[in-house]
Amino acid sequence: MGDTLLEVEDLHVHFPTPDGVVKAVNGISYSLAKQEILAIVGESGSGKSVGVLSLLRLIPDRDCHLRGSVHFEGSDLLQLSDVEMRELRGNRIAMVFQDPMTSLNPVLRIGDQIQESIIEHQGISEKVAKNRAIELLELVGIPEAEKRYRHYPHQFSGGMRQRIMIAAGLACEPSILIADEPTTALDVTIQAQIIDLVKKLRREIGMSVIWITHDLGIVAGLADRVAVMYAGKIVEFAPVDELFKNPQHPYSKGLLNSLPRLDTRSEEPLEAIEGFPPNLIDYPTTCPFLERCSSRTEQCQTPPAQQALTPSHQVWCHHAVKV
Ligand SMILES: Nc1ncnc2c1ncn2[C@@H]1O[C@H](COP(=O)(O)OP(=O)(O)O)[C@@H](O)[C@H]1O
Ligand SMILES: [Mg+2]
Repeated sequence: MGDTLLEVEDLHVHFPTPDGVVKAVNGISYSLAKQEILAIVGESGSGKSVGVLSLLRLIPDRDCHLRGSVHFEGSDLLQLSDVEMRELRGNRIAMVFQDPMTSLNPVLRIGDQIQESIIEHQGISEKVAKNRAIELLELVGIPEAEKRYRHYPHQFSGGMRQRIMIAAGLACEPSILIADEPTTALDVTIQAQIIDLVKKLRREIGMSVIWITHDLGIVAGLADRVAVMYAGKIVEFAPVDELFKNPQHPYSKGLLNSLPRLDTRSEEPLEAIEGFPPNLIDYPTTCPFLERCSSRTEQCQTPPAQQALTPSHQVWCHHAVKV
């Protein structure tokens, strides 16, 4: 991959609560190259959302302890002032969430919402911004965009609203689009259209993408590289083809085995991973996957260090083998 655009180093996000400290993210490091699409996968509660929300400081400082660094365009995002951070959010780095109703303003026409974001960040005239907003709505597949521009969020279906959110996220042509399970609620046809759109924009505006999903089918069709997260850590990191061909962490293997198979047309996972992730308050001192791992040995009492199987394939497991 080419130039590094974003560099996350040793990021920790901990939440002090009355019951103890919830260790949601525990020392993750990764880089994102220009025009790269990086997928972050892992089951619910593994720290995917907290891991990206904290990059943009969208979790109030009073609620969490942040440690590590996030380098982007010459600064550490974790050290920026609130004003600097606001300027960057939705401008250089845009984020799209799973639930569009929480991010779209219900009392504003959708066109005005998109247009405002363009004017605010790019300082262009209203007329130019309006045309650009209509163009974006067309781009994400909103029919009759010129008319629909004047409609309110509740006048759209869930799938349409999600596309509008994506249009709003893309309005200022961000360097990085961070999408947190944005297509989970959509049917597969629209999902496929949005994925094609993201790939097209990556080419056309040179955007980089961090795409969070628990759907490995989407990963296969979209990502360049994949980070697999478990209990707030990255347990495996590899180019997408490499991960699908040669998964080395038992958790990654389990995730891949639970993919519905195309040949049997079965919707049922073949082999879900049994058991539950560890308690994040009483974080294990062993390998965090130990409890659920069928390959565990005495060695796994010690947390595994990073192993590079190839320069681009890293895994955190004592039993990983180089091929
Ligand atoms: N404000 C908070 N206070 C305490 N714990 C939190 C808070 N936000 C998230 N968590 C916990 O952090 C862990 C990771 O959450 P999250 O990043 O949302 O997981 P994912 O997106 O992978 O499903 C979860 O156990 C969640 O309960
Ligand atoms: Mg999440």
